[in-house]
Amino acid sequence: MFTSTLIDLALRFLKGEEQKKLDVLSNEVFIKALVSSGRTCILVSEEDEEATFVEPSKRGKYCVVFDPLDGSSNIDCGVSIGTIFGIYMMKDGGEPTIEDVLQPGKNMLAAGYCMYGSSCTLVLSTGTGVNGFTLDPSLGEFILTHPNIKIPKKGKIYSVNEGNAKNWDGPTLKYVERCKFPEDGSPSKSLRYIGSMVADVHRTLLYGGVFLYPADKKSPDGKLRVLYEVFPMSFLMEQAGGQAFTGKHRALDLIPKTIHERSPIFLGSSDDIEEIKALYAAEEQKNLAS
Ligand code: F6P
Ligand code: MN
Repeated sequence: MFTSTLIDLALRFLKGEEQKKLDVLSNEVFIKALVSSGRTCILVSEEDEEATFVEPSKRGKYCVVFDPLDGSSNIDCGVSIGTIFGIYMMKDGGEPTIEDVLQPGKNMLAAGYCMYGSSCTLVLSTGTGVNGFTLDPSLGEFILTHPNIKIPKKGKIYSVNEGNAKNWDGPTLKYVERCKFPEDGSPSKSLRYIGSMVADVHRTLLYGGVFLYPADKKSPDGKLRVLYEVFPMSFLMEQAGGQAFTGKHRALDLIPKTIHERSPIFLGSSDDIEEIKALYAAEEQKNLAS
């Protein structure tokens, strides 16, 4: 439903009937659909500074956090973009408060993304594995095309904005150096970076490897947002057999203090994330010893 509405809006936009920017438009579509579903009580969107509290007559028990149009800087050049979402249940049956969405990612009931690319793909987990669906436009339905997605245990691809390298910390620099010049004589990894989190994570999930948006000297918390980027993608990674790490902890253990908080993130194939964790642990040991 969301996708077809989004596509309708996109067509109106292209015909000049709709002048709003697509990210603003998609936010309106999602907010309207979620409120009118009668199932939600709090909505947190990347586009809105404040959370939306659903009016009592339309209120349900679910809290939805979402990035309505991720990777929107890629719209004008036709590169894949998407929608990321996570769903929590309110903590108790009382009046909703912002604390209901400031829960660790491991408390999410479901998470997923839709990718608008050469096909329209929905990847979803309700906490018992990950399934991928492809939109069949002739039916207007999503068909289960990728049942029980499992990420390869080790990958051959790394994905990062390497233009930020001069500001990275030691473990990130060392890991990326190892991807290019492996110390054990194994083949170098390939670098793939689209710049749309949805598309980069989708490739990582299907082909294996790592996606990283680390901290750097200019952005000590990295760039990506905890609630509606880091958590849903980390939830999917774990459900697919991979790992997600912040540079300090398991990503899903984070407890956000504010709705638009950021965190560094390393996610992907389990063996590759283990290697990154070991580099951070070694750095910590070195700091403790000095
Ligand atoms: O939402 C933020 C975002 O657009 C992500 O989709 C993407 O992974 C990242 O920013 C790209 O950032 P940068 O342009 O700094 O590499
Ligand atoms: Mn985004």
